[in-house]
Parts: sequence; structure tokens; C-alpha cells
Amino acid sequence: MSTVRPTARRLTVRDIKARKGAAEPVVCLTAYTTPMARLLDPHVDMLLVGDSLGMVMYGMPTTLGVTLEMMIAHGQAVMRGSSRALVVVDMPFGSVQESPALAFRHAARMLAETGAAAVKIEGGREMAETIAFLVARGVPVMGHVGLRPQMVHALGGFRAQGRDDAEAESLLDDARAVAEAGAFSMVVEGTVEDVAVQMTETVAVPTIGIGASAACDGQVLVTEDVLGLFTDFTPRFVRRYAALADTVEEAAAAYAADVRARRFPGPEHTFAAK
Ligand code: KIV
Repeated sequence: MSTVRPTARRLTVRDIKARKGAAEPVVCLTAYTTPMARLLDPHVDMLLVGDSLGMVMYGMPTTLGVTLEMMIAHGQAVMRGSSRALVVVDMPFGSVQESPALAFRHAARMLAETGAAAVKIEGGREMAETIAFLVARGVPVMGHVGLRPQMVHALGGFRAQGRDDAEAESLLDDARAVAEAGAFSMVVEGTVEDVAVQMTETVAVPTIGIGASAACDGQVLVTEDVLGLFTDFTPRFVRRYAALADTVEEAAAAYAADVRARRFPGPEHTFAAK
């Protein structure tokens, strides 16, 4: 089934914001490179250059080692490979937490050097002042509440959020604060269904869920999980639509066998003098 959408123009933050409560959910996938962005762009509304790239592309144990320069380079690559989807680039750990002014300097660099239209900032109430500072100065911000991988050490691991009343109330306060600060949308990650439902009913901007139930206004997944390319672990909330790791292994094995048996290269791959 084709899901290709008309490509008249790139979607904007206003287009995404206007999808709050719409019958058709917002479709988002992560992308880190130009070729992957080219393949995904016709099918999705948003491409997220997530700092998950640290784990997925660079083999890091967490996202904490990802730098601003890495995010800018991958943001540029995704912009080069897309023309329709709204591209949002993650602000990495340490780039926005110190002060609103420093966050603005880093976010302005991100928009200027990548050409992307928005940044994503992980955090709840504690980041509301920074989000408001950026939004007032022309930087569209997507929030990220619930499970926040940049807080992995403080949270004591990657575990679903909102399982007891106190945690649920705190998550709802976070979502309210982020929306009131002016975020145009927010990722809700690893959050129990009841809380995701309440968040989605409470805030006036689209909630984009990952492990946060079908109640959200949209869904996002890490593309390498969807494609079966990142196989270190598969979170419970992922549905795999392909098993590309197997395909890659089979292709590599076939190539190696051909080279070792001198079946490759053949005459059709070989240059001859005139
Ligand atoms: O870094 C990332 O890819 C993300 C998504 C998982 C939402 O934040």
C-alpha cells in the first residue's frame, strides 16, 4: 500500500500544530542520514533527527555522549535528503540545560547551520523557562516528556513512567508546563496509557507518542527498530516491519563468498583498454 503524500511544499510547525485532535494521526520517524531521509520523506509528516543516533549509529551506551556538532552534521544530512517532511533536530544533553541564553545560542546555530525548522528539547517543568525564551525569539520547540533518555542516570534506567499517582501527576504538570511555554508539539515517551490519555486531553498541542499508547495525536519510532536494523534490543513498544539485519548479513556473506571464490568481480565489472 502506498502512503506517498503530495510533495508541493515542506510541512511547517503550524501544519503540525493544526493536527491537534485530528482524525488522522501525525506520522513521524527518526532519520540520521541523507539516503534514509530520501526513502522516508514521501511517507511521513515529520523526520526527527534524534539523539538516539548516538546509540543506533555510534554504538554509545546512552545518548549522553552526543555533541552539538554531531547533531548539526546529521541535521544537515537529513535536510539534504528531504523536501516534504518537517525536520526537527534534537538538542543534545548539555546544550540547553545551563541557561536559556546558552540554549538560544546553540538552538540558533542548529537552525542556521542545518536549515531545519525546529528543535526538540527533553524536559518538563524545569525546561519551561528555556522553551519560552527560545519560542519568543523565533525558535520553534518540540517538547519531550515522560521517559527522558538524557535523564537515564537520574531515573535509574529506561523504565516506563507514570505507574503511581505521584509520578502521573508530575508528568501531567510537565506536559502542561511545556505546552504553556509555547512548544508546538511534544514527544511523550515510555508513559503508561492512562497518563498519555490525560496528557493528550489536557494540552492544546499534538502529543507524539513512543511507547505511550494509541491515544496520542501522532506516533514516532526509531527507524532502525522499525526496519529490524538495530537488533541490540527491541523495546516492547516497537513493531518491526522488516528484518533488514538479516538481509544485510546474507548480502555480506554472499559477497564474501563470491570474492573468495573469484566469482566477483566478473567481466561486466571490469574496465578494458580501447
Ligand atoms: O532521540 C530520539 O530518537 C527520540 C525519539 C525516540 C523520540 O527522542
